[in-house]
Amino acid sequence: MEKGLEQNAVELDSVSTYYYGEKRPALRDVTLRIPVGSLALIVGPNGAGKTTLLETILGLLKPRSGRIKVLGYNIPAEASKARALSSYLPQDFMKPPIEPFTAREVVAMGLASSSFSGRLLESGWKKVDRALELLGMMDHADKPFGKLSGGQQQKVLLARAIVREPKLLLLDEPFSAIDLETRSYIVGEIFPGLLRGGCTILLVSHDLDYSSMDADLVIRVVDGRVSQVIMRDAHATH
Ligand SMILES: Nc1ncnc2c1ncn2[C@@H]1O[C@H](COP(=O)(O)OP(=O)(O)OP(=O)(O)O)[C@@H](O)[C@H]1O
Ligand SMILES: [Mg+2]
Repeated sequence: MEKGLEQNAVELDSVSTYYYGEKRPALRDVTLRIPVGSLALIVGPNGAGKTTLLETILGLLKPRSGRIKVLGYNIPAEASKARALSSYLPQDFMKPPIEPFTAREVVAMGLASSSFSGRLLESGWKKVDRALELLGMMDHADKPFGKLSGGQQQKVLLARAIVREPKLLLLDEPFSAIDLETRSYIVGEIFPGLLRGGCTILLVSHDLDYSSMDADLVIRVVDGRVSQVIMRDAHATH
């Protein structure tokens, strides 16, 4: 099948991942199908393997066994191609005390491929400002990133993830510092817009009431094992 026309954005078959030197797998024999254009909510207790699952999907962690395909590319062999079409917002961001870049520049990094030259075309900066606007951060665009509050920083990082117009968006606890009102706006307005455009979203979140989340599927991770519950046909709504 031609790349990009796959039915599933993510496919895992019997995937097991071990951290270096560990005897117990952090993911055990995981088989998953995440259809293109769906919102998959990943839930489970601390230490269950949620972050490990995202990093295995991106090829940042290499599985010991099994087969992975992301956006039609074999992982880890073709991971850089899959990552070029993806955005990942990791769980642990540390507030850097000295961060020379402004919020706008941090968002612009989402458009730079490997190194940030600071030179974007006019159309690029327009996209950056639209992403900042979407997250309600235009008033803070010229402030140093390090001087923003934790929640403001999280919004800027979300804007950076979105500005790339990714085919696959992986968000690991993106709401931990974000207020309820913004959270409902992101879930109720921003996500549906991305999904309609064919983006697939994998969202790790502890504290969401997922009956109100409008998720297409819920992936429950417990002790490295995964059970997948289909909520509905991914293309039926949004
Ligand atoms: N770098 C590492 N080296 C060894 N073991 C690790 C490493 N990172 C995570 N683990 C272990 O792998 C398991 C899964 O961790 P993971 O970070 O995927 O959990 P999680 O579901 O994301 O948890 P949380 O909700 O706390 O973020 C845990 O038992 C953890 O201790
Ligand atoms: Mg985690």
